[in-house]
Amino acid sequence: MAPKNAEPTLTLSSAAPATTRADVVVVGVGPDLKAVAPADTVSKAFGRSFGPTLTALGFKGKKGDVAVVPTSGAIKAGIVVAVGVGEDPSTSDLRKAAARAIKAVHNASTVAYALPTADADAVRAIAEGVLLGGYRFDRYRTGSDAKDAAADRPNAVTLLTRHARDAEVLAALEAAKATATAVNRTRDWVNTGPGDLTPAAFADAVTETAKADGTAGVKVTVWDEARLAKESCGGILGVGQGSGNPPRLVQVTYKPKKPVAHLALVGKGITFDSGGLSLKPGASMMTMKCDMAGAASVVAATLAIAELGLPVQVTAIASMAENMPSGTAMRPGDVIAIRGGTTVEVHNTDAEGRLVLADGLVLATEAKPDVLVDVATLTGAAMVALGLQTAGVMANDDALRDEIVEVADSVGESFWALPITDEVVSRVKSSDLADLRQHNPKPAGGALFAAAFLREFVGETRWAHLDIAGPAFNDAGAYDEVPKGGTGMSVRTLVGLAERLARRVD
Ligand code: BES
Ligand code: MN
Ligand code: ZN
Repeated sequence: MAPKNAEPTLTLSSAAPATTRADVVVVGVGPDLKAVAPADTVSKAFGRSFGPTLTALGFKGKKGDVAVVPTSGAIKAGIVVAVGVGEDPSTSDLRKAAARAIKAVHNASTVAYALPTADADAVRAIAEGVLLGGYRFDRYRTGSDAKDAAADRPNAVTLLTRHARDAEVLAALEAAKATATAVNRTRDWVNTGPGDLTPAAFADAVTETAKADGTAGVKVTVWDEARLAKESCGGILGVGQGSGNPPRLVQVTYKPKKPVAHLALVGKGITFDSGGLSLKPGASMMTMKCDMAGAASVVAATLAIAELGLPVQVTAIASMAENMPSGTAMRPGDVIAIRGGTTVEVHNTDAEGRLVLADGLVLATEAKPDVLVDVATLTGAAMVALGLQTAGVMANDDALRDEIVEVADSVGESFWALPITDEVVSRVKSSDLADLRQHNPKPAGGALFAAAFLREFVGETRWAHLDIAGPAFNDAGAYDEVPKGGTGMSVRTLVGLAERLARRVD
């Protein structure tokens, strides 16, 4: 097996872009085809040829345009990567620009970024762009493919900024590193073949990762199928009973010395969703290794929150099962009991996510958190409603729901509020023989129905549900900081929410 993915080291320096020692210098370019400060000295060093050279390379000066320019000795570095940043770049523009630029760097060992860094947020966005845009998943590459992949990764990236010694900026860099590590871990777990990431293997990977981090205050607990039975987790057991790979529930807790809030997270961890006896058509199964993205996100975000030492207690629960058809599989018509006793009439074994989440939500509420958020690749209906780049957020608390949308905007992720309507609530309660009906009898409002179902398990706890079915997996091409395959979508929002809870003084 090829070596583990290595991210470049990231440091700050106040060196001058034109004279810094690096193989490649990345500069931001405005609509006037001039490099913007602190890289203005770079375009000046080229004399009058900078703009015309960019034009000859097809660079028009629009946001996100990229051109690779050999410097022929005009500055110390051999290559300039020019990236369009527009008039007055936002943090999200800078993140995208940094990501696009790193993808244009090949066979370089050292890269210096000279993008504009007005404040700590700008440094954080650029650092995230470098680490997220440079992501590759090479676990399954062998021989010369593996060598080529390794050569294309820079060893060291320096961000040039006059704030290099500013404590706030240094903290922003550390936050970016921890967040990007969490996003990239989530991507790795999602991209791993489902045969290699069974529930037990996923649980082991979480245990090993937390151990390798060795962060103070973090604890991992794994429940196997016997313990799940003892703990009355009928949803996870029901969904997992058709697979030869038994289910697991993983709890990752982080207890800081003086917590100012307690955040509980629950993630859907279906390591492969075949649909079960309500079998999916083959083509729809192709991407269903991504159905554990919610679990990966909540675990990775928790480790990042701990790494950052935020004063927020976190209880993360990952409900892991493989949804398979077999002689032992759960059947449409079965009635199962979720932890806490609520009974559910199963209509469609492909609506499995809500069943494993229900146990996780009940368990999470037992920890009495201030805020509870679940993350799940839950419904195709959310994709139909919001497309492939926007996730839905539904909640029993409008303020929490709107706050999540706001946090997501600030970290460069796209969430949109959806309602939980009376219409779907009454349908959830329309089972002929059990407390709840699992599956929407009509497909209309499928994302809302699923949220209404989940709400039954959170009691009075402030709760929000993130349906990331669309953006968790990018089956089209890579763009900006988002690669093809697993995206790690929601991790930045979860870390951002914890940062906000840490700052709040009410
Ligand atoms: N894991 C799927 C949802 C999904 C679909 C995620 C596409 C990512 C991409 C979920 O378990 C599922 O199968 N949902 C069904 C629910 C239906 C049977 C009520 C769906 O959306 O079709
Ligand atoms: Mn399903
Ligand atoms: Zn699923």
